[in-house]
Amino acid sequence: MNPSEASAATPYQQVGGAQTVVRIVEAFYARVETDDILRPLYPDDLEPGKKKLAWFFEQWLGGPTSYSDRYGHPRLRRRHFPFVIDERAAGRWLRLMREAWTEAGVPRDIQDPIFERLAVLARHMINANDDVPREPLGDVYLD
Ligand code: HEM
Repeated sequence: MNPSEASAATPYQQVGGAQTVVRIVEAFYARVETDDILRPLYPDDLEPGKKKLAWFFEQWLGGPTSYSDRYGHPRLRRRHFPFVIDERAAGRWLRLMREAWTEAGVPRDIQDPIFERLAVLARHMINANDDVPREPLGDVYLD
């Protein structure tokens, strides 16, 4: 592969595709399970959320549109309204996510630009002081 082709690879290809995404999500959720801040925010059954996060990452990294095929537009901030997310929770989420990507074997130089985007998204998810609807949304399809 010549250098121009290499730089055209999507982040999805760079990290190693669906298999790596599953490893990331498993490593992240293994940490959530015992986390004092995040565990209480998540539902008892963590399995459905794992699948959703994996489908989301596939598409967010430039792979197949696995998430939107099922649930429509991600509208992530809206979908997180039922969970009261403050700065500490966002910081913890990011830290556990970093550890998960490292455990999944994604090299630091590939992680870094991705985490610049993830950090922006995590901040965007903070809603603790906002007057937003907190009712559970479930598996709703949003346009
Ligand atoms: C900032 C701190 C964050 C916290 C505390 C948090 C917490 C949660 C919780 C509790 C759920 C529900 C899981 C379930 O229903 O099983 C969830 C769902 C989800 N989160 Fe986050 N999240 C955060 C940030 C993010 C970010 C930055 C992203 C994207 C990069 C993300 C992507 C998702 C996705 C795709 C879902 C599934 C949405 C759905 O279809 O219901 N989250 N999150």
